[in-house]
Amino acid sequence: MNLRFGRGKALVLAGVLGVVGACNDDPLVPPGGGGPDNPPEIVMTAPTGGAAVQPGDMVQIAWDATDDIGVTGVDLYYSADGMAETEIATDVQGATYDWMTPDQTLYGVTVRGVARDASDQTAEDVTNDIFAVVTHSERGYVTGAACADCHSDYYDDVYLSSGHPYKLNKVENGVPPTYPNGPQVPNPPDGVTWNDVSYVIGGYGWKARFIGTEEFNQGYIITGFGGAGPSGDNQWNLLPSTWTDYHVDEQKPYDCGQCHTTGWQSLDENGGVRQDGLTGFEGTYEETGIACEACHGAGVGHVSSQAASDIISDGSDDLCGTCHNRGGANADIPASTSGFIRHHEQYNEWANSPHFGAVGCNDCHDPHLGTRYDMGGVIADCESCHADQVANNAHFAVGCVTCHMPQASKSAVADADNPNFVGDVKTHIFTLNPDAQNKDYFFSEDGLSVATAAEGVTLDFACYQCHQDPVTGTGGGGSERTLAELSALATGIHDAP
Ligand code: HEC
Ligand code: HEC
Ligand code: HEC
Ligand code: HEC
Ligand code: HEC
Ligand code: HEC
Ligand code: HEC
Ligand code: HEC
Repeated sequence: MNLRFGRGKALVLAGVLGVVGACNDDPLVPPGGGGPDNPPEIVMTAPTGGAAVQPGDMVQIAWDATDDIGVTGVDLYYSADGMAETEIATDVQGATYDWMTPDQTLYGVTVRGVARDASDQTAEDVTNDIFAVVTHSERGYVTGAACADCHSDYYDDVYLSSGHPYKLNKVENGVPPTYPNGPQVPNPPDGVTWNDVSYVIGGYGWKARFIGTEEFNQGYIITGFGGAGPSGDNQWNLLPSTWTDYHVDEQKPYDCGQCHTTGWQSLDENGGVRQDGLTGFEGTYEETGIACEACHGAGVGHVSSQAASDIISDGSDDLCGTCHNRGGANADIPASTSGFIRHHEQYNEWANSPHFGAVGCNDCHDPHLGTRYDMGGVIADCESCHADQVANNAHFAVGCVTCHMPQASKSAVADADNPNFVGDVKTHIFTLNPDAQNKDYFFSEDGLSVATAAEGVTLDFACYQCHQDPVTGTGGGGSERTLAELSALATGIHDAP
């Protein structure tokens, strides 16, 4: 943009329109005599390129201003999205000005310069690129609260309806964290007060663990080590609300941040810095929990330019797989000797399922909404793609997810009524093995991985949620059924009658 509103030009125009009287074709004579006096010209040259500025920091404004007689001064103004123009400085001499930005957030900022010459003719120009005055870290993180300034719907979705942002919760001044859904975390373990706790790990979905303050246990996860806290019962399980052991009397550092925080850097990556100076904290984060920038990358460039090309929008399964994974892509599915698949293995399970390569995480999930507590995160249910099975799902109106995604994985505790077959995390293997096999066949001999994922989850996990196992005597309140009886119904269960 390079607009000129010189006084001479205005007079010429006025003359053509006949508003002002005659003899206006003569160029203006500058004060003191001499040649013709043309209006000045100005081109704003900086700031360019959308680089953001910290509130209250200095940014250099620059311009090229010329005039046949001489520019006497430049007036500077800024405007930000949706705000009236504000004066920065008037009658500036030279070709640059160091602007001390206001101590507030401004988006979509442009700067207008007005050059003036001795006969008060003016010209003006506005910077081409918008930029932002916004608080950001050295690595360019702005936090979810800044994203919310323009994407409030997404912010509300993520922060009100999913567990992601609550993965790590800071405790300040002894005030416990609160969660938008599900049960709230109770008071910390016996002998520990909220003033002894620096962070709560989790507490939204399955379980919570506690990190001490520097004074209490040097910021390690509370396990009872060295007498700080009870030696048992340091992990709270949500459903049902119970306390269990966690690494009893072992000094357990917090090195979990790459999957639990936004912008985590390990000690190797950040040169040995510990968050909040806590000895047990093996790195630093930019924001607690899985916030916007955990999935979209550091956002300051985008916030400044507001261009889609300046933000990562990665819809791949591998993104989810950076955290919902154990042991690397396409690895086997690690299990524990307690007889369940271990937790945070949705990627491993899915990679061993019939949906691998056909239906990905974001085909079924809205990543901004959770699935726990029915938060609307499932955007395509089984019924929407498997019409044949819907037509033949006569088993007492049991839902698809109940049978096909049984809780064969365990994060916190198994269902007390059915400790053999019902863990607390829904599996993503999806296929069911209709044969008369139990979990001994499902897991490897040492119990440390799933051996027969390709054949599907064994019937005991699916059917003994409701039916009773005559061998172990456990199961749901339904009728007692042997594996052979279950298999007889399961085989071809969706075949047309
Ligand atoms: C000052 C306003 C503003 C802020 C703050 C902002 N955005 Fe945006 N964002 C936009 C605009 C405008 C678009 C649309 C760009 C377009 O379509 O050209 C957009 C688009 C996006 C897109 C879609 C990109 C695509 O490929 O279509 C994503 C993802 C996004 N923003 C994420 C974020 C995140 C994450 C943050 C916080 C780090 C954030 N935005 C902060 C204005 C903003
Ligand atoms: C768990 C990961 C994750 C988190 C956390 C997350 N997003 Fe996204 N977001 C995605 C994915 C994946 C997409 C879709 C990318 C695709 O399919 O192209 C997306 C898309 C978007 C889009 C573009 C939607 C469209 O229709 O083009 C916007 C805007 C956006 N996210 C903003 C945000 C904001 C703001 C936050 C924080 C409040 C946030 N996201 C948090 C993963 C996430
Ligand atoms: C490879 C990524 C990864 C690492 C490393 C990791 N976790 Fe997690 N964790 C997850 C994911 C993903 C979930 C949620 C999904 C699930 O459990 O199936 C989770 C869930 C949890 C939960 C339950 C959260 C809730 O709201 O109920 C706790 C507590 C937890 N992890 C603690 C830890 C601790 C402590 C460490 C480090 C010693 C750790 N995790 C390391 C990925 C990870
Ligand atoms: C940076 C690590 C990370 C990434 C990337 C990530 N997650 Fe998560 N996810 C977690 C952790 C940790 C939890 C447990 C949060 C809690 O309960 O506090 C979780 C929980 C969940 C939950 C259950 C919580 C709820 O509110 O229902 C779903 C569903 C989920 N993630 C889906 C996804 C999908 C889909 C993607 C990819 C778009 C994804 N996640 C990407 C770490 C991650
Ligand atoms: C977006 C569409 C879509 C959704 C949603 C979906 N599926 Fe699938 N499913 C497919 C496709 C595509 C395949 C692979 C091709 C095939 O075998 O039909 C498949 C395969 C399967 C198979 C193996 C089929 C066979 O013949 O062996 C099972 C079992 C299955 N899905 C169960 C489910 C369950 C359970 C759900 C809900 C949790 C679900 N699917 C949701 C599209 C979908
Ligand atoms: C009572 C438990 C149960 C319920 C409920 C159930 N299924 Fe199945 N489903 C099975 C079993 C068992 C098999 C394996 C059948 C076989 O291999 O002969 C199966 C097989 C399938 C297959 C593989 C193809 C086939 O027809 O064998 C798909 C796809 C499928 N189910 C989808 C669904 C969908 C969609 C729903 C909900 C409308 C659903 N199932 C409800 C138990 C169930
Ligand atoms: C075929 C559809 C489908 C695909 C593909 C899929 N999910 Fe899910 N996911 C679901 C459904 C359905 C639920 C359970 C909803 C409910 O609780 O009723 C679920 C639940 C979850 C949960 C919460 C588990 C629990 O026990 O509460 C997590 C975490 C999750 N998915 C992550 C992922 C990740 C990561 C991927 C990709 C690797 C993925 N999902 C792929 C359909 C899918
Ligand atoms: C959500 C609960 C639930 C699940 C899960 C469930 N069932 Fe059932 N099932 C019932 C109920 C209720 C009845 C009827 C009363 C009874 O027999 O207990 C029934 C009855 C049966 C019967 C006797 C009636 C008949 O049609 O012959 C068989 C066999 C059976 N189920 C097999 C299975 C198999 C196989 C699975 C796993 C793939 C399974 N059920 C999973 C609830 C369930």
